[in-house]
Amino acid sequence: MKISELVRSNIKTLKPYSSARDEFSGTEGVFLDANENPFGELNRYPDPYQNKLKQIFGEIRELPVNQLFVGNGSDEVIDVLFRTFCEPGKDKAVTFSPTYGMYQVSADINNIELMNIPLTDSFEIDLDVFKNSIDSDVKLVFLCSPNNPTGNAVSNDTIRAILDSFNGIVTVDEAYADFNSGDSAIELINEYPNLIVSQTMSKAWGLAAARVGFAITSEEVISYMNKIKPPYNVSALNQKAAIEALKDKEGFDQRLKTILEEKENLRAALSNLTKVSKIYPSDTNFLLVEFEDANRTYDELVDRKVIVRNRNAYVKNCIRITVGSQEENEILINALKELEA
Ligand SMILES: Cc1ncc(COP(=O)(O)O)c(C=O)c1O
Repeated sequence: MKISELVRSNIKTLKPYSSARDEFSGTEGVFLDANENPFGELNRYPDPYQNKLKQIFGEIRELPVNQLFVGNGSDEVIDVLFRTFCEPGKDKAVTFSPTYGMYQVSADINNIELMNIPLTDSFEIDLDVFKNSIDSDVKLVFLCSPNNPTGNAVSNDTIRAILDSFNGIVTVDEAYADFNSGDSAIELINEYPNLIVSQTMSKAWGLAAARVGFAITSEEVISYMNKIKPPYNVSALNQKAAIEALKDKEGFDQRLKTILEEKENLRAALSNLTKVSKIYPSDTNFLLVEFEDANRTYDELVDRKVIVRNRNAYVKNCIRITVGSQEENEILINALKELEA
């Protein structure tokens, strides 16, 4: 399969915007090329290709810079992929439901039909259903691992089976990868040039406000994604925040450990409540919890200013609960205990 044959024809021929910083990338000199203001601290445009950030992230993930793309959050990665590979009003994409809502929103914005293939009752991908559902208009598959809101990871064997049975682009959204002790699909990147793994600094790295996400894929796919992204898609402040966070490996490990311990404490406390009928396994920083009556519990929690995510419309009577600090989790548990009384 040739990547160039999967790219939209207008993107293949697109002449991307060439920024002043594309033409000269040195750091020393008198810069009178970008109509910037000579005064101030944030007066210069940021590095359009976020090289320093990619370097550090690449060292952590053991990947070269030219296999990395930085997005304004991984939501931008999702959008750029639709715009690179799917012809509006013609091509289709596939996802496995229930899953993260932005695939649908991004598909709708780009006028792409998104086929939602249901996961099995145990939230697994049914490969036969997938194979029977795809046709030649399907250009893009999104699978989320570990999946939001179900919390379970997809094995690399399943991802491989999808890649081996489909001649298009496969994106594995690993927003929650750092919480998962299993394999990352990054391991398959060099075998499959049509595989894209997206990760984010919004979850385990604690930088949701900074809007930094990554795509990890073949150099060729990266080159097309770079053509499409806005030239300065990640601000200098956000690049700096991301670099600082990535350098603090010790702090990261400590916070990750705490969140994972708190997840087990939360699971134990929830399992003692009579209104809780099931807690699903989780490879993430949230728990999908089945209540007797999720809508009612959700409303009662909101009344007590405890905000969780009601997923009843997608998984019957389920609420998705993010693992907070010890104090926040206690507030939640106490509120739920009050409701039992
Ligand atoms: C599966 C998944 N992907 C992507 C995102 C968005 O990540 P970002 O903040 O990097 O845009 C989320 C956020 O909740 C998510 O759950």
